[in-house]
Amino acid sequence: MSEKNVSEGAALWHGRFDSAPADELMSYTESLSFDKRLWVDDIFGSKAHVTMLISVGIMSKDDGDKVLSALDAIAQEFASNTFVFEASDEDIHTAVERRVTQIAGEPGGRIHTGRSRNDQVATAIRLWCKREVRTVRDFILALVDTLEARAQEADANNPAIRLPGYTHVQHAQPVLLSHHLRAHAWAMLRDADRLADALERLDVSPLGAGALAGSSLPLNPSVSAREMGFATTFANSLDAVSDRDFVAEILFDIALLGVHLSRIGEEWVLWTSAEFGFASLDDAYATGSSMLPQKKNADIAELARGKAGRLIGNLTGVLAMLKGLPLAYNRDLQEDKEPLFDSVDQVRRALVALNGMIATATFNVDAMTKGADAEALVATDLAEWLVQRGMPFREAHAVVGKVVRDALASGTPMVDIVRGHPQLGADAAQLFAPGVAVGNRRTPGAAGPEAAPVQKQRLADAITQAKAKLS
Ligand code: ARG
Repeated sequence: MSEKNVSEGAALWHGRFDSAPADELMSYTESLSFDKRLWVDDIFGSKAHVTMLISVGIMSKDDGDKVLSALDAIAQEFASNTFVFEASDEDIHTAVERRVTQIAGEPGGRIHTGRSRNDQVATAIRLWCKREVRTVRDFILALVDTLEARAQEADANNPAIRLPGYTHVQHAQPVLLSHHLRAHAWAMLRDADRLADALERLDVSPLGAGALAGSSLPLNPSVSAREMGFATTFANSLDAVSDRDFVAEILFDIALLGVHLSRIGEEWVLWTSAEFGFASLDDAYATGSSMLPQKKNADIAELARGKAGRLIGNLTGVLAMLKGLPLAYNRDLQEDKEPLFDSVDQVRRALVALNGMIATATFNVDAMTKGADAEALVATDLAEWLVQRGMPFREAHAVVGKVVRDALASGTPMVDIVRGHPQLGADAAQLFAPGVAVGNRRTPGAAGPEAAPVQKQRLADAITQAKAKLS
């Protein structure tokens, strides 16, 4: 049991309590250990609040200026790592307010006028998201740039690099490497777009909602909203303090981004294996084994795959935390921050590491080409060759299926069977020449060289649009 004196080192809310909070309570309920990184946002929001209080005449200009300069001094302390936390600081918000009063004296006691930590924390997290989620978009677009650079390099090879395209991890049809890399770029661009949408939706200031119901004081929330650069002000005070949709939304966007990165990771694990041998990693982006001297492992790719689980967990954790909450603020909401911070931190690191890994890897053109030119990948083209000569597709499918079956049964190369086939013959056998099949992929948006310039242009346009949304 705590025997501490109430006034000494007491929590800001000590007034109605006879005894000081138990150490166990403080250590269980504190959020300072993880929300101190919100200091920039808390101070920014506090300055906007003070400016609003001055503008409506609740705080005198004189007092306001003292508080504002105390807030600037505190920002300096944080920036220079000299801010000293005290045992009674529960979270970043109480720490900053406590320090304002130490620096500014009596006027500091006016900073929390018309404000609650409930609207204060909602404001700070939104500001944090506006600042930090933007950088996730930057890193996504940097990875897209790398994928596109490697795609252009692959097309500049003579001939353009081709590899087997897969369905069910079985050889399907040959595709250009540029096409494959750009497929991932398109997924990344959707991720960037989703995050831009989320940022637009969260651009609402909750400051002024107070604990839940606003205030009897003549506050003007639009003033602080404008000061902080929010697009608009809350419409409903209860919603303003209890809404964490934006956290869940960002966590979903990052979870899906993480799933995309995981799929890229899985592919590179396969590509760098001895069995595929499609790519090898630069030494700086690979790891070794403590026991097996020959090993060169794709740990970045594996962790991009493994950490997707954690990103999904952060999303589901927050959704589960939110689902039972009645209006308005509940302390449960404090659990929004660690998953949010973790997902943003983790996905940024994944994006940067994968970017470096992909930028520096070497593609094994011979292995890719050999796979792309394997006979079986021509089967669909053979069927389409028959279709072009009037045969119904289903019948053509069966004819070529029989060729494949005969080739497998007799151990004869497909090309030889095709050459001697009454319905196919020497012309159709031309389809087996190296690089012919990939050249036949000519649908707009398809995997062959004919469609490649259009692909390149469309992706370039989409990248330009995504970058414009950043500014
Ligand atoms: N640290 C809390 C959070 O992160 C804010 C404090 C609100 N606490 C309160 N008792 N009203 O959500």
